[in-house]
Amino acid sequence: MSIQKGQLLEVDISDVAYGGKGVVHIEGFAVFVDQAVPGDRVRIAITRKKKNYAEARVVSLLQPSTDRVSAPCPHSGVCGGCKWQFLDYDRQLAYKRQHVAESLAHIGLIKEATVHPTLPSELCFGYRNKVEFTCSDSRWRLPEEMENHDVSSCFALGFHVPGVFHKVLDIASCLLQPDMGNRILGDVRRYIQSSELPMYCPRTHKGFWRFVMLRHSVAHDHWMVNIITAAENRRAVQPLADLLNNNYPQIISVVNNITAKKAAISAGESEIQLFGSAHLTDRICGFEFDISANSFFQTNSRGAETLYRTVMAYAGLTGNETVFDLYCGTGTIAICLSKAARRVIGFEIVDAAVSNAEKNCLKNGISNCAFYRGDIKDRLSEALHKPDVMIIDPPRDGMHKSVVQQVLNMLPERIVYVSCNPATLARDLGLMKDAYQVIEVQPVDMFPHTFHIESVARLQKR
Ligand SMILES: C[S@@+](CC[C@H](N)C(=O)[O-])C[C@H]1O[C@@H](n2cnc3c(N)ncnc32)[C@H](O)[C@@H]1O
Repeated sequence: MSIQKGQLLEVDISDVAYGGKGVVHIEGFAVFVDQAVPGDRVRIAITRKKKNYAEARVVSLLQPSTDRVSAPCPHSGVCGGCKWQFLDYDRQLAYKRQHVAESLAHIGLIKEATVHPTLPSELCFGYRNKVEFTCSDSRWRLPEEMENHDVSSCFALGFHVPGVFHKVLDIASCLLQPDMGNRILGDVRRYIQSSELPMYCPRTHKGFWRFVMLRHSVAHDHWMVNIITAAENRRAVQPLADLLNNNYPQIISVVNNITAKKAAISAGESEIQLFGSAHLTDRICGFEFDISANSFFQTNSRGAETLYRTVMAYAGLTGNETVFDLYCGTGTIAICLSKAARRVIGFEIVDAAVSNAEKNCLKNGISNCAFYRGDIKDRLSEALHKPDVMIIDPPRDGMHKSVVQQVLNMLPERIVYVSCNPATLARDLGLMKDAYQVIEVQPVDMFPHTFHIESVARLQKR
């Protein structure tokens, strides 16, 4: 059968692909179906036809899979934030493990490693400690809003609709953040709506209000509100900070990041402290970390603790080891390992992250950690010590080939590889497999209702 764009078909979904789409094979030809899961019988419309595969959307759900549950969020199905809310959580965990195992086998040609069942997130909702809402003058209108003239199409505070860069879905509440975040968001929305100043337009790059970022410290139940604007206008933003200060004793910080850059990035060229502190403090594995508006910090604090405890177990430290922490960010892993190692040496490219790492060591009374600033591929060879154990936690793209080569030259006894991308994890472990045996891999779920998965791999020198 030849598949054509626009064609309607009735199919049974048999599998799930990385990215969370359902899969059906039609005479050996793979069709990826958005918002479908194995066990569904669906009528689909082909939206895109490529040489080796096609994409489709669900037109109607004829027989739902027994794995389906009702999605609690009213925005589910439209919002691109968490596309798996309708899938039973245990199935989500099983599919995530399957993606990790299949990537290792097919991309890295690693078949002997044990891939453990995914460790679940302690919280399935309300787990995010940071959520960023986009301000837009172009609202994605829902079918039920089309005829409602009370709904302005020039105002939206929420998330982008997948595939539509300039339109934003107005979000009344996001279930991934703790409930207080939604109350704060409501107050911020009312204030911005009643202000005289316009929402930002991503096409013309005009407008004032750009983003609203909410951060939560789980350990102390404190909040930070970061208002991102296109220009400095203290008269416009200070009353909002005062209002939040009056209404919420839990808000200990309100800052205003200002950015004239066209890129949709919330980190400002400058920051004004409108109220309280410039940072929040959260706790992981018993250590305190200061987090400022633009610092990187794992977005699921309890999930991070599970992840780091797995790293600690796999590092197998006795107190005598020199540990290298590659891609160390703000030093959270280095600090968590510091008490069990002789020394930990971190490598990180972002200057501010290294400064945070050094401050976090001071804050926690830790003196056996040191950090190298700069690109790992240039700095790794400058280290004075030889590593016994290496922790490698690269960004989604994985390791640069020359870094892999340098690691193989240093040949530490053990490597613990932390990854947020099963494909690059598998590729990099594949490059190291002649020198290292992959003993076990632990998937850790930090992002329920999304297809994202973190993994920790334990490698032993052969
Ligand atoms: C996934 S984060 C890991 C952060 C940290 N391990 C943690 O758990 O919080 C990856 C880090 O690698 C850093 N990075 C990316 N490319 C780099 C490079 N070429 N050299 C050094 N660091 C790099 C990023 O700035 C980021 O902090």
